[in-house]
Amino acid sequence: PESRYEAENGLVSQGVVESNHAGFSGTGFVNYDNVSGSAVEFKVNADVAGPRQVTLRFANGTTANRPLDISVNGSLAVDEQSFAGTGAWTSWQTVTVTLDLVAGENTVRAVATTANGGPNLDYLEI
Ligand code: GCU
Repeated sequence: PESRYEAENGLVSQGVVESNHAGFSGTGFVNYDNVSGSAVEFKVNADVAGPRQVTLRFANGTTANRPLDISVNGSLAVDEQSFAGTGAWTSWQTVTVTLDLVAGENTVRAVATTANGGPNLDYLEI
């Protein structure tokens, strides 16, 4: 990967940085508030424009899917990407999506779409 962006370094809207579930990268993860609209925003640098594989690492210790809408530079890119249960809050998995990025800085925002909020989010990697 070119770069890893830790969720705890992102712009968190309605969520908290925590470190109480082992296995995370960096210094912690973001626990989305359990509301629709809670969000984490990343500033993602791409060296060239075009479609890119972007990986999100997460844990979801419930049995309910916690979908996120993923937008790039203000436009919805992935509608309700699934983040299914991982079996435990300490069980981290990855989801990879294809995002069309511009060269240079991109704003990638991952917004919870249900009242359960998002999964615990560890990082975004490109
Ligand atoms: C538990 C868990 C949190 C998680 C939360 C949730 O409180 O410890 O890490 O974020 O459930 O349901 O979102």
